[in-house]
Amino acid sequence: MDCRGFHLLIWVVSVLCLACFGCCQFTPKDNYLIDCGSLTNTTVDGRVFMADKLADKLLSSPQEPVTSSNDSSLYQTARIFTGSSKYTFSISQTGRHWIRLYFNPFDSGNFIMSKATFSVSSQKYGLLSNFTTNSKVVKEFSVNVTTDNLVITFSPSNNSFAFINAIEVVSVPDQLITDNAILISPQEKFQGLMWQALETVYRVNMGGPTVTPLNDTLGRTWVPDQSFLLQANVAKVVSKISAVKYVSGGATRQIAPDSVYGTATCMKSDDDPDSNFNVTWEFNVDPGFQYLVRFHFCDIESEGLNELYFNVFIDSWMAVKDLDLSTYLVNVLAAAYYMDYVTLKTVSNKLRVSIGPSNLHNTYPNAILNGLEIMKMNNSVSSLSGLAPDITSSSSKKNVGMIVGVIVGVFILVVLAGVLFMWCRKRSRMGQQGHSKTWIPLYINGSKYSNGTTASVNSNLGYRFPFVAVQEATNNFDESWVIGIGGFGKVYKGVLNDGTKVAVKRGNPRSQQGLAEFQTEIEMLSQFRHRHLVSLIGYCDEKNEMILIYEYMENGTLKGHLYGLGLPSLSWKQRLEVCIGSARGLHYLHTGYAKAVIHRDVKSANILLDENLMAKVADFGLSKTGPEIDQTHVSTAVKGSFGYLDPEYFRRQQLTEKSDVYSFGVVLFEVLCARPVIDPTLPREMVNLAEWAMKWQKKGQLEQIIDSTLAGKIRPDSLRKFGETAEKCLADFGIDRPSMGDVLWNLEYALQLQEAVVQGEPEENSTNLIGELSPQINNFSQVDASVSAAHSDVSIADDLSGVSMSRVFSQLVKSEGR
Ligand SMILES: *[C@@H]1O[C@H](CO)[C@@H](O)[C@H](O)[C@H]1NC(C)=O
Ligand SMILES: *[C@@H]1O[C@H](CO)[C@@H](O)[C@H](O)[C@H]1NC(C)=O
Ligand SMILES: *[C@@H]1O[C@H](CO)[C@@H](O)[C@H](O)[C@H]1NC(C)=O
Ligand SMILES: *[C@@H]1O[C@H](CO)[C@@H](O)[C@H](O)[C@H]1NC(C)=O
Ligand SMILES: *[C@@H]1O[C@H](CO)[C@@H](O)[C@H](O)[C@H]1NC(C)=O
Ligand SMILES: *[C@@H]1O[C@H](CO)[C@@H](O)[C@H](O)[C@H]1NC(C)=O
Ligand SMILES: *[C@@H]1O[C@H](CO)[C@@H](O)[C@H](O)[C@H]1NC(C)=O
Ligand SMILES: *[C@@H]1O[C@H](CO)[C@@H](O)[C@H](O)[C@H]1NC(C)=O
Repeated sequence: MDCRGFHLLIWVVSVLCLACFGCCQFTPKDNYLIDCGSLTNTTVDGRVFMADKLADKLLSSPQEPVTSSNDSSLYQTARIFTGSSKYTFSISQTGRHWIRLYFNPFDSGNFIMSKATFSVSSQKYGLLSNFTTNSKVVKEFSVNVTTDNLVITFSPSNNSFAFINAIEVVSVPDQLITDNAILISPQEKFQGLMWQALETVYRVNMGGPTVTPLNDTLGRTWVPDQSFLLQANVAKVVSKISAVKYVSGGATRQIAPDSVYGTATCMKSDDDPDSNFNVTWEFNVDPGFQYLVRFHFCDIESEGLNELYFNVFIDSWMAVKDLDLSTYLVNVLAAAYYMDYVTLKTVSNKLRVSIGPSNLHNTYPNAILNGLEIMKMNNSVSSLSGLAPDITSSSSKKNVGMIVGVIVGVFILVVLAGVLFMWCRKRSRMGQQGHSKTWIPLYINGSKYSNGTTASVNSNLGYRFPFVAVQEATNNFDESWVIGIGGFGKVYKGVLNDGTKVAVKRGNPRSQQGLAEFQTEIEMLSQFRHRHLVSLIGYCDEKNEMILIYEYMENGTLKGHLYGLGLPSLSWKQRLEVCIGSARGLHYLHTGYAKAVIHRDVKSANILLDENLMAKVADFGLSKTGPEIDQTHVSTAVKGSFGYLDPEYFRRQQLTEKSDVYSFGVVLFEVLCARPVIDPTLPREMVNLAEWAMKWQKKGQLEQIIDSTLAGKIRPDSLRKFGETAEKCLADFGIDRPSMGDVLWNLEYALQLQEAVVQGEPEENSTNLIGELSPQINNFSQVDASVSAAHSDVSIADDLSGVSMSRVFSQLVKSEGR
């Protein structure tokens, strides 16, 4: 190594060291640790508390120190004030500072500290008022100090005295509390957090032991969560401290240390996929205050990304719905993350925090919480304790007035609410009637069916079927006629009187969501007629039933032909035609009507194939039309199927046609690779098809991962076009994705590219597709002769990154030949 290289190395190493210390070690600019009343310095958890004899200059009216023989270190001495007294700390850097007050009441002569009553304030903020304690306690506050001095005043109440055992005033890193908390309801940014004085009331390490100041990056103490759990038997503890990662965009070690993020309390689901309960912690709080609640998350539990979806509540408010930690820290598992929420003024003296499973499809019920901080916020008179003037009232006369006022107010409110309720009910009934009108036209005079057996089909209209006709068609819902089971209910095969085959979807009764989806589907399908959309033949809503009758699709779902069900595999040309057909159907939905219709649940299981393998898009239960989106896009709950969900929609809950385009892109890769979109049994990087396929597409080596039955049968141009199209569909942002019309055009082009060349059987062309083996690879394949399963081929390709694709491809073909 030459000299310059060596210097460079030294430089790099030193920069790395600096960066490392810079991020992990914080040296507070202001760091006052005072052991009040003590004559000697005291070392606690590696930190030296100064004897305040030496700190006397900080104290404006020093009183005699007192000592207790019993207690340890800091708590052995105290300072007592019989009149108002101040500690003044000169502040070298403005910003948020911790003020920690240590109290240990002991008796010293005339002074019975457990009877002392006093108030403590910093300049602007009341920290403690008429405070009294009969046990050892540490109070932690933080205030943004914007002046050169921080003055802490102790004021004895009425004929009492004040005492203090130790004080800390320590700078807080600026990024620890930033102004980006969210108000819990209505959910919006909370304004002005930097002006808040905060009192840390709870700092909890979920699923782990006490973290002492020694183990914390900022000298904090974190207590275990067991005693706050409402039902400890439904909670499970996990610990994996070594897994915790700190990445940009997430939390830092200062926000909370590894020992907090590395342990967690989860749902104890006991492998029951139907588990549905919350894990809840309960904390005592003072009513009338708002609280800043900081959640610390780190998914040390999941094996792969996008596996864990859960809900987070504060009291009965939903803080986050379907939280997927990997959408915030894309592609990093076990990355530390935190979220700040501000509660409304609490009315009860309990605050509950809960986590529970998401009810998204295909998610395993689990939920995780690693740490929690609850900080009380000052009230409107800048106080952290006592009652705000808007709650108390000094004169009882005023109280009576207030009570009368409240009663009258409540009465008026109740009357108003009643009137409003009646009005809403009426409106919603009217609304329902109005609503019905859009789909009731399908109703063809009921008397026609009075004998209940003559239902038959007119090609273009959906009919309202009598229940008996449906019973007859499905052999009274014969279980052996079931051809599918979905979220909505079961799907039966059926035969109408005239011999027409139908698919009969029977909704689970009494499901509110089901009812909405039922109506949506009838509405949508009676408006849309297209050869690539499944036609609705009729419906039945008698006896609270929700039954939909569709044309029968002889060849089942596209998914069934790709994997799992063992239906015959499709050729590349057939697959392209299926993709083109379904793209046409979706294109029509997006553009064929005055308002764009968004399908919202595009997936291979919703693409059906008729007897000629013509594709039709099905299942419009979740569809939304344009105007509704405008009204509800903010609050639209994320629906759709796991693995196909547009990440942008997920993040922003804003629905556009481009969400369908994303899902369709996932379908394209599914068609190419013939594997499930989420397969947790695979190695981590392969679990999510979209991510995995994009990785190979970006490397230009998509052929490495295609369905083995297509190997050597796809013309490279066609594959390239297809891969590019899918890639564009999966762009992170909707605006970067093509329209369904563009997708359609590109797929047709991919089909032309395939047909132009492969006229005969592609077997003969296979040498065009396969490059020559290099000796190296030959050796390799001899060494490892056990290559067989499709995915082990791929992981070999992965290990050999840097080897060109054609070589590995040829090896793949070769190892299959053996
Ligand atoms: C206590 O600590 C202060 C500051 O660290 C130092 O100046 C002082 O000498 C120490 N006093 C004793 C008695 O150790
Ligand atoms: C010391 O501790 C004992 C028992 O733990 C208690 O009875 C006594 O009051 C304590 N003394 C002081 C001065 O606090
Ligand atoms: C303490 O209590 C007294 C009497 O209730 C009241 O007048 C005083 O304002 C209180 N002090 C503070 C700081 O709240
Ligand atoms: C103040 O002290 C007097 C006499 O000790 C007592 O009667 C009164 O209740 C006290 N007031 C408060 C608010 O503690
Ligand atoms: C403290 O307040 C000042 C405004 O005076 C603000 O600029 C600063 O960001 C605040 N610091 C923190 C940590 O909130
Ligand atoms: C605290 O730190 C010590 C040594 O630094 C370590 O052995 C111990 O496990 C840590 N405790 C926790 C709870 O992380
Ligand atoms: C979880 O708690 C929230 C808020 O209290 C509640 O709305 C929800 O129904 C609970 N979920 C379960 C499964 O108990
Ligand atoms: C807390 O005090 C600050 C400054 O006095 C004030 O601006 C803020 O509104 C108070 N917070 C609340 C929740 O009232």
